[in-house]
Amino acid sequence: MVNFLNVVPALVLATVVAAQTATNTGAPKILRPNGDVWWVAKSQNEIVWDCKDTSRSVFTVLVGNTDVKVQTAPIAIIAEQQNYQCSLTVTQDKANQAAGTGWFVQFANPINNTDVWSTSNTFEIKALGSAYPPQASDSPSGSNSSASGSASGSAASPSGKSAAVGLKSGLGAFGLAALGVAGLFA
Ligand SMILES: *[C@@H]1O[C@H](CO)[C@@H](O)[C@H](O)[C@H]1NC(C)=O
Ligand SMILES: *[C@@H]1O[C@H](CO)[C@@H](O)[C@H](O)[C@H]1NC(C)=O
Repeated sequence: MVNFLNVVPALVLATVVAAQTATNTGAPKILRPNGDVWWVAKSQNEIVWDCKDTSRSVFTVLVGNTDVKVQTAPIAIIAEQQNYQCSLTVTQDKANQAAGTGWFVQFANPINNTDVWSTSNTFEIKALGSAYPPQASDSPSGSNSSASGSASGSAASPSGKSAAVGLKSGLGAFGLAALGVAGLFA
């Protein structure tokens, strides 16, 4: 019988290595977070990707760490994310990873999360209360090549809308129950 705990670290390593060597072939490139753009623990954070790459219309969003002692395997935080939304606000009830380094975001096949399509650069999660990175207040754009007025403007409004819609729809029975449960453990 195979010991699952022994298999998981190997799987993670394989995933990370595969993602690094495959360098996002045919998948939206994750622009932020990255080595310069961190997250803040127990706070709202942002994921931004190159949504002009329409090769994948829907993906699962996962968060993992290069150190299996920090987190054994990437965890799905959004089951089905639409590519066209271009960015995503991650609330602390979706991802509550601890402060530290070596974190990465992955986009994977929604029906098989070990089929990873895109991996971000590793990034740091800073302690609760840390300042957000400067870019976080700008409209989504990783580099000045994608920062033209129309591109960032059109990227910003749908993501703002979708975040609001997502929050609202998330406040169904399950969302309220989840908030209640989170409250119990806070
Ligand atoms: C899931 O994806 C991985 C990586 O591409 C692959 O090795 C595995 O066979 C897939 N599993 C299924 C059930 O398709
Ligand atoms: C903006 O683009 C120019 C030309 O490609 C480049 O030289 C410059 O370093 C870029 N600036 C930033 C902040 O990325």
